Amino acid sequence: MAKQEIILAVETSCDETAAAILADGKKLLANVVASQIKIHQKYGGVVPEIASRHHLEQVNMVIEMALAEAKLGFSDLSGIAVAYGPGLAGALLVGVNTAKALAYSLGLPLIGVNHIEGHIYANWLVSRDIEFPLVCLVVSGGHTLLVKMEGHGEYLLLGQTQDDAAGEAFDKVARVMGLGYPGGPMIDKLAKRGNPKAIELPRAWLGADSYNFSFSGLKTAVLNYLNKVAMKKEEVDKADLAASFQESVIEVLVEKTMCAAKKHGVKTILLAGGVSANTGLRERFKTRCEEEKKTLYIPPIEYCTDNAAMIAAAGYYRYMARDWADWRLNAVPGLKLCVKEGN
Ligand code: KG4
Ligand code: ZN
Repeated sequence: MAKQEIILAVETSCDETAAAILADGKKLLANVVASQIKIHQKYGGVVPEIASRHHLEQVNMVIEMALAEAKLGFSDLSGIAVAYGPGLAGALLVGVNTAKALAYSLGLPLIGVNHIEGHIYANWLVSRDIEFPLVCLVVSGGHTLLVKMEGHGEYLLLGQTQDDAAGEAFDKVARVMGLGYPGGPMIDKLAKRGNPKAIELPRAWLGADSYNFSFSGLKTAVLNYLNKVAMKKEEVDKADLAASFQESVIEVLVEKTMCAAKKHGVKTILLAGGVSANTGLRERFKTRCEEEKKTLYIPPIEYCTDNAAMIAAAGYYRYMARDWADWRLNAVPGLKLCVKEGN
C-alpha cells in the first residue's frame, strides 16, 4: 500500500486554538477546536493579549488531543502546516513557533498557510471534484474578497471591501443592538423571525462593474435608525431590524458574486469564511445558483468558522507542490493572499 501523506495543522490566528490531522488531503482523522469565545464575550470582542495567553495554555493539549483522536503518534506524520497570517501577531506567534519546534525536532517539512487560503480550502475537505476556473467569495470577520481561481493556489483579485469586513459589520451591528459577541450567529438566529422588508436600509453597489464592497454606510444607517426610534421613544423590533440588515448584506454579496461568475464565464462558485455559516446567505446562494445553473460549494457549518482542518487542506496542496517554508517562517499579521489584480 502506498504511503499516506499525513498533515498535522495548527491554527491560532484569532480566538480559536485548533489542531487537525488530514490524510492524503481528504481523510480528516482529527479536528480539535478549543474556542475562547466565552472568555472574550465579557469584553464584547477579542482581547489580543488574552487570546495569545490562552493559545499558549491550550496549543499542546489540542495537538495531543488530535493525535489521540486520530490514533497516531508523531512518527506517523509527513508534514506540519500552520497558519502564519493574517491574524493577531501574538496569537499567530504561538502557532508558528509550536509548528516550527515540532517540524524541526521531528525532521519534517514545515508548511506556512495563509489563513484566508485555509478558509477557501475548507471546500476541498468535503468535495474533491471542484472544477477550475471558479469564483470564490471569502466572507469572514476580518476579510471580504471576491477572487477568481484558475488552479490550486492561483488567485485573481476581483474585488474586496473598502472598509469593514462582512463579519465585522454583523458583529458591530449586533453590538449596537445589544445582542452580544460574536454577533453573526445572533443576527442569523433573530433574522429568521423577522421581516427582511420591514426597514429600508441601503445597499452599497459602488458602481455597475465594481466587485468591491462597503458595509460602513449600512452600519451607520442601522445606528441612525436606532437613534431615531429611541428619540421617538418607540420600541425596536429587533427581529425585523436583524432581518432587514442581513438582507441588505446578502443581496450585495450574492448579486456581485453571480455577476462576477457571469462576466468571467465561470460555472463554479465557492463560499468561504465565518459568514458563510449564515443560514440566509447559504439559502440565497443555493436558489440563485440553481436559477443561473452554477455549481455551488459551501463548506459544512463546522468548517466555515476558524478551524485547523481547513489549514491542513490548504497545507496538503502546498506540501505536495513542495512549497515548504524554511526556519525563518514568521507570523505575518497583515499577510495578503498572493493575488494578481484584475476585474
Ligand atoms: O472566519 P472566521 O471564523 O474568523 C475570521 O477569520 O475572521 O469569521 C468570524 C466571523 C465573525 O464576524 C462572526 O460574527 C461571523 O464570522 N459569523 C457569522 C455567522 N457565524 C459566524 N456571520 C453571520 N451569520 C453566521 N451564522
Ligand atoms: Zn478565519
